[in-house]
Amino acid sequence: MKKLLGFLSLSLFVFAVSAQQTDPIHIIPQPLSLIKGDGVFGSKQTMSFSIHGAGTDNIAQQFTVRFSNATGTVLKTEKTNTDIEFHLLDKSDNELGSEGYRLTVLPTKITLHANQPAGLFYGMQTIFQLLPKKAEGNNGLRAKNVWSIPVVTITDKPRFGWRGLMFDVSRHFFTKQEVKQFIDEMVRYKFNLLHLHLTDDQGWRIQIKSLPQLTDIGAWRPLREGKWANTPDPSPDEPKTYGGFYTHDDIRELVQYAKDRFVNILPEIDIPGHSMAMLASFPDLSATPGTKYWVNAGEKFMEWPAGAHFYALKDNNLSPANEKVYQHLDKIFTEVAQLFPFEYIHMGGDETAKNFWEKSDEIKALMQREKLKDMDAVQSYFVKRVEKIISSKGKKMMGWDEILEGGLAPGASVMSWRGMKGGIAAAKANHTVVMSPTDFAYLDYYQGEKTMEPPVYAGLRLQKAYQFDPLPDSIDPKFILGGQGNLWTEQIQNFSAVQYMLWPRALAIAESVWSPKERKNWPDFINRVEQHFERMNFAKIRYSTAMYDPIISAQNDGKGNLILVVDKEIPDMAVHFSIDESNPDHTYRQYQAPYTLPKDVANVKFVCYKNGKQVGRQINISVEELKKRAPRR
Ligand code: ACM
Repeated sequence: MKKLLGFLSLSLFVFAVSAQQTDPIHIIPQPLSLIKGDGVFGSKQTMSFSIHGAGTDNIAQQFTVRFSNATGTVLKTEKTNTDIEFHLLDKSDNELGSEGYRLTVLPTKITLHANQPAGLFYGMQTIFQLLPKKAEGNNGLRAKNVWSIPVVTITDKPRFGWRGLMFDVSRHFFTKQEVKQFIDEMVRYKFNLLHLHLTDDQGWRIQIKSLPQLTDIGAWRPLREGKWANTPDPSPDEPKTYGGFYTHDDIRELVQYAKDRFVNILPEIDIPGHSMAMLASFPDLSATPGTKYWVNAGEKFMEWPAGAHFYALKDNNLSPANEKVYQHLDKIFTEVAQLFPFEYIHMGGDETAKNFWEKSDEIKALMQREKLKDMDAVQSYFVKRVEKIISSKGKKMMGWDEILEGGLAPGASVMSWRGMKGGIAAAKANHTVVMSPTDFAYLDYYQGEKTMEPPVYAGLRLQKAYQFDPLPDSIDPKFILGGQGNLWTEQIQNFSAVQYMLWPRALAIAESVWSPKERKNWPDFINRVEQHFERMNFAKIRYSTAMYDPIISAQNDGKGNLILVVDKEIPDMAVHFSIDESNPDHTYRQYQAPYTLPKDVANVKFVCYKNGKQVGRQINISVEELKKRAPRR
């Protein structure tokens, strides 16, 4: 008996040691199939590595550098029979497609197979996620470079070929280095498409050598650091110190950096609306002569009345009736097409306010000449001409779903943002589509308790982002290229805020565009997200913990009482709250059911716990705010 106990405690000890060295598997996005085995592949001071297949040098280079930095283990490249082996398959494996991989971790060997280099790149990302979290610190696991990877077999490939994130570098400018960092972070989660929103009312961010005014003037504005749309117009002599743009060399460098990481860059030139920066450079290109233009610095120039159509207070559109507009666009798209090898160019096309066009004589003349019956037809005329320019440069045109209005240009692809309906209509008309609906994929929206987040006009919580499914029922999948999350940056001024808005919601988007639908599981996803929070702590990637914010609303009971109603998106989380102005902890009242607030309460303060530990932040809400949330009876 004693012997047996000794054996048991010894094996428990051995188990504890190996458990300590190996984190539970928590891959994001969830792979197609994962079979966990017994044991681990353990560390050595030096290990051998080999890679087999053409066009893989760049992967070998990235893997050996990052692996050695992460673990402290020196990887020696050898020809064959190595501890870690990457292989391009001689004979294509249909199950893996062009981006899939098969990873086998045995106690003695790690083997990665793929049809194409991209598959090896994604398999490599999975290997890094199998390493202990501490390895994300990139400091050889600090003092002790003892690590292990669990024995596992993974077969994986993406659900969609277009797995995108849009980065708005116009509203606020982000440096080339920051764009590279954005790419570094997105490829950890197997995104392969970076949509750069390069032009808008607030800045023109790409050098056009044949039209230098676009960046001499259009890239610069007075500095504003406070609340968006909360400032008066800049004065004419105010120094234009804020801005920037990418030169041709910068763009080439970014394109190469992205390509080395299997990312395509989709450039967007947003026209005919959203064009104030271009009009600051060329004021005679609008249909409203005499307008004084400057690059918008955040001051308000559009109205969005509730329940009514939006309109502009100042015409920010290019004129579809002006031939010089098309001449300039030809020059712009010539250079854009030369700089970006990707097959698509995005021409925006969204949110064109028509109220100045309606008053313009040159537009009226155009309508007569071209037999255009209304403003949608005018917009469609413009989009079709732009499509001809873009296709003359050997590229396919993509636009936001407004390009459907008045008739879609032949060959155009649609990026559906006002829900999925535009995308569905386009797919039914045999046009290709990328889904990026506001309801699931707008990463500029606030993500938790509204009063605690930077002010934005709408919210998108993590759980909703996780419900994103780019493929609607009854639509032929061949027309749905995939999906993407969009990060607009009106209210985002620095890269730390970029990270805060991206993570963890971009993890939800990543899983929605990579993993099979039936492999998605919200509670399991949350557990993995929490593991990735720890990884991000080591990797120094900022993220938001707003998923822990309780979802706070209220009801009137019709007898003059206000009832507090709390929901949550994390299933096994306890919500505690105070009504006496003190800061609560787990010893305070736990929310179990709608709670009638006593009349003397002024503020309710919340704090959440999971597995006995506080998660997220304290939320304070006034009863005044709660009253606003209670539907009138
Ligand atoms: C958009 O969000 N205006 C495309």
